[in-house]
Amino acid sequence: MTRNLDGRRLLVTGGAGGIGLATTRRLLADGATVAVLDRNALDHRTFGERPPFSAECDVAAPDSVAAAVSDLASRLGGIDGVVTCAGVTHGSTVEETSPAAWQRMIDVNLTGTFLCVQQALPYLLENPASALVTIGSVGALVAAGRSAAYDATKGGVLALTRSIAVEYADRGLRANCVCPGLVATDLAANSAADTAGLRPDLRPTVAGRVRPPAARAADPAEIAAVIAFALSADASFVTGACLPADGGYTAV
Ligand SMILES: NC(=O)c1ccc[n+]([C@@H]2O[C@H](COP(=O)([O-])OP(=O)(O)OC[C@H]3O[C@@H](n4cnc5c(N)ncnc54)[C@H](O)[C@@H]3O)[C@@H](O)[C@H]2O)c1
Repeated sequence: MTRNLDGRRLLVTGGAGGIGLATTRRLLADGATVAVLDRNALDHRTFGERPPFSAECDVAAPDSVAAAVSDLASRLGGIDGVVTCAGVTHGSTVEETSPAAWQRMIDVNLTGTFLCVQQALPYLLENPASALVTIGSVGALVAAGRSAAYDATKGGVLALTRSIAVEYADRGLRANCVCPGLVATDLAANSAADTAGLRPDLRPTVAGRVRPPAARAADPAEIAAVIAFALSADASFVTGACLPADGGYTAV
């Protein structure tokens, strides 16, 4: 049986946890060879006979990213696609956000995405049909309150993705930004008390958005499925797109 990503060599940042881990499992199941780049060690015991390659690396550190991407590219034998899941959040209003917290979110979410893509580009461009999927957020599209810095980084990720799509379309690279709503991960658990606009009861002083029509958090596998589609040949005419996977959050 042919699988959707048979033979593809894919790099997933932030692949040791949350959406990135679910994505790693999905891409492996779809036939890809996968390498994970994460600041945390990947638990290889939870994989079967074909575990992913992995390297520990802070995506915000340029030298570390260069070394990790080079190492993983040689273990994969090339890179046909990249998914940038590594990200952090910190729920606070503009007044409450320290310069250090602002800087860390910019460094990890935006600069980290840029650095990983930049290092992977030479490998991606060797393939006439390569793909990049960045992870934005509904925060790139609408404001939830108490997440201005995070939303700014995600708006930057979406703009960066569109620019990459335009710059490299003629060399066969498709670039799309998947924008999840609330997803049941550690990141969401740590921030759900005061961000994402889904707990207006906890945020009485900030005008919150309505609850998403789906009225639940996504399972990370539901986001991984959209990422797998965007990487696959089924999405061959999809580039420069923002793909919300948000239970209708941005529809209301
Ligand atoms: N969970 C949600 O509700 C939600 C919603 C919208 C967007 N997102 C985005 O999805 C992405 C994944 O989030 P998640 O919910 O799976 O979070 P998570 O915290 O469960 O997993 C994030 C992974 O990224 C890694 N990581 C964090 N900082 C890193 C760094 N500096 N260098 C290398 N690796 C690093 C972590 O070790 C972890 O494995 C993030 O970009 C996040 O902003 C999440």
